[in-house]
Amino acid sequence: MKVYLAILSLLLLAVFVNFTDAQALFNNWQQEMEVEAEAVQAENPALEGELEAGEGEEAVKEEPPVEEAVEAAEENPGSSPEVGKGNEEKKMVENPQDILVLVNKEYNLPADYIPPDLVQPDIPFSFSEDLPKKKMRAEAARALEELFRQAAAEGIELAGVSGYRSYQRQEAIFNYRARERGEEVANRTSARPGQSEHQTGLAMDVSSASVGYALIEDFGNTKEGLWLAENAPRFGFIIRYPKGKEHLTGYSYEPWHIRYVGVEAAQEIAARGLILEEYLAGIQQPQEEKLAPESGED
Ligand code: DAL
Ligand code: ZN
Repeated sequence: MKVYLAILSLLLLAVFVNFTDAQALFNNWQQEMEVEAEAVQAENPALEGELEAGEGEEAVKEEPPVEEAVEAAEENPGSSPEVGKGNEEKKMVENPQDILVLVNKEYNLPADYIPPDLVQPDIPFSFSEDLPKKKMRAEAARALEELFRQAAAEGIELAGVSGYRSYQRQEAIFNYRARERGEEVANRTSARPGQSEHQTGLAMDVSSASVGYALIEDFGNTKEGLWLAENAPRFGFIIRYPKGKEHLTGYSYEPWHIRYVGVEAAQEIAARGLILEEYLAGIQQPQEEKLAPESGED
């Protein structure tokens, strides 16, 4: 009997030890996963997409604290000290409806500018709600539909993530990111209010299921991201913030952000490896040269 009891005790001990080991292993694994998830989140430049997972009143779903912060900022624009910095001596955009309009850290759109012909392109989106961020200007929307049609015909599944963005929403997003990640990161990844191309209605953030519809650099290495970079110009779109041009654009590489400029400009920009600023400087050059005095006229 004693022998049986001893064996039983040993068995129970073994089960207990294994169980605690297994539990420790599980706890470790869980902790590692949490740390990894946090690291991914920290490195993820996709906040603009995440922030836009819900908008307005319907926004409290995926990320309640984030959405509440954005909503609060939207309700009280200009309340944060971040806004306004870097905007001293603002240059204003004078041709906001021009397809080749330049909006960047130097040229600002007026706070009340809303494109006149916003429509919703008939493409798949990464979310189902009818939100303003589904919209683009009519010409860009039609071109985007063509691009998506061709992609689908070639077995490439893309999704729209974020298009038109109001001044107020830019303000909310920039402030949120500056608060969460610091101003330096915010400056590289989010436009200050009035400085986002999304307000022109000519930009769309595009992603794919292969990266969970996130707006991350890795999208550029997926077959969808590679297809987009190669084929977007045929439909009048450029990758607006390319790799290697960060010092000129002022923004991190964004393989997901496409900007409509029309087929001719897009193809030249892509073929010559330019950014929009360089292309516009080039086409403005001949006019300046025309105005310059001819040699021998001094
Ligand atoms: N992420 C781009 C620069 C924007 O905020 O418009
Ligand atoms: Zn974008």
